[in-house]
Amino acid sequence: MTMTSKRDLVRVAAKARQRAVAPYSKFKVGAALLTRSGEIVTGANVESASYGLTCCAERVALFSALTAGKRNFVAVAVVARAPGGPMPCGACRQLLAEYAANAVVWVADNRALRTIREFSVRELLPAAFVEVPEDSD
Ligand code: THU
Repeated sequence: MTMTSKRDLVRVAAKARQRAVAPYSKFKVGAALLTRSGEIVTGANVESASYGLTCCAERVALFSALTAGKRNFVAVAVVARAPGGPMPCGACRQLLAEYAANAVVWVADNRALRTIREFSVRELLPAAFVEVPEDSD
């Protein structure tokens, strides 16, 4: 198995970004998830005329990976044309906290793919809600 570097994963996310369907915002985002065994699953944002139905690149990648049976995510790269790279929204942070809690998040601007900022999922969503508590009422 070949090792995927953070630069590699960012490049894959940049490639996935080309498949974004963002006719309303024109803001294209690509994401690439890396599993512990070295598999990569990508996604890009998909927008709707009913704006609120839009799904971010991170969640498209995550849902795709999960429904393909992938688990144990070690990293996710997110790329868009945004200074310093796009920061995942709150909804994506929640899903990442639930299904990729131990992953590192690499973000990069599409125009400067070698400048990669790194965060942990934990720091992006501290004190996350991760399970439905018992409610005996
Ligand atoms: N978007 C993502 O795909 N990921 C992010 O991290 C931030 C926002 C998308 C949602 C929408 O299609 C567009 O970017 C503008 O918000």
